[in-house]
Amino acid sequence: MEKRDKIYEGKAKILYTTDDPDLLIQYFKDDATAFNAAKKGTIDQKGIINNKISTKIFEMLGSHGVATHFVKSLSDREMLVKRVTIVPLEVIVRNRAAGSLCRLLGLPEGTGLVCPILEFSYKEDRLGDPMVNEYHIRALKFATDDEMEKIKALAFKINEALREFFKTINIELIDFKLEFGKYKNDIILADEISPDTCRLWEMGTGEKLDKDRFRRDLGNIEQAYQEVLRRVTQ
Ligand code: TMP
Repeated sequence: MEKRDKIYEGKAKILYTTDDPDLLIQYFKDDATAFNAAKKGTIDQKGIINNKISTKIFEMLGSHGVATHFVKSLSDREMLVKRVTIVPLEVIVRNRAAGSLCRLLGLPEGTGLVCPILEFSYKEDRLGDPMVNEYHIRALKFATDDEMEKIKALAFKINEALREFFKTINIELIDFKLEFGKYKNDIILADEISPDTCRLWEMGTGEKLDKDRFRRDLGNIEQAYQEVLRRVTQ
């Protein structure tokens, strides 16, 4: 697969065109940012680790009947993906209170929830990805009602599959962020699923195995990512 032009560079990944107009190469960088890029750094080997973790998770979700943009792994840092039009929403599912939900509602970190919470943010770095509800999404045409029905059903289905998967490797899935894309009249899962986009706590101890180690300067960041990779691929 020939790599052609860089069409997009985000905080953690780069997208390149290929000789097939329906396919892109997604390249994973070591760069890490937090708080809308106010904090910047790199996590050694992160690109390689997240490419491998995302690959494994997309394959697992595929086996559960969830359509994703993943086509195949190409190299340590590259995967071949379907070229989608990204729905400009960050779709967040929470199983336990952490991060911005704790700040929003003054909750202690780790507060239990009687059911999962689904949240949407409008993907616009200039505004810091503000939280929006389904009325904003409909009124401003960020997505159609039909697309939102598909996105909501997929988000909950993915949550169930991911929770179960992580449970088998002794990790509690606290929350995560998804991005969806439009592909030939369908909605499919895009972007990545990795310790950058999930909160993952060791069962029992609650030790953080995700990007909160970077956000909060907890140390042993690379080791935590490596540990997730080891378990995910064991
Ligand atoms: P939050 O608690 O900061 O809103 O984050 C919720 C989840 O979404 C958490 O697992 C981290 C992930 N996330 C991203 O992947 N990208 C982002 O830009 C943000 C703010 C959160």
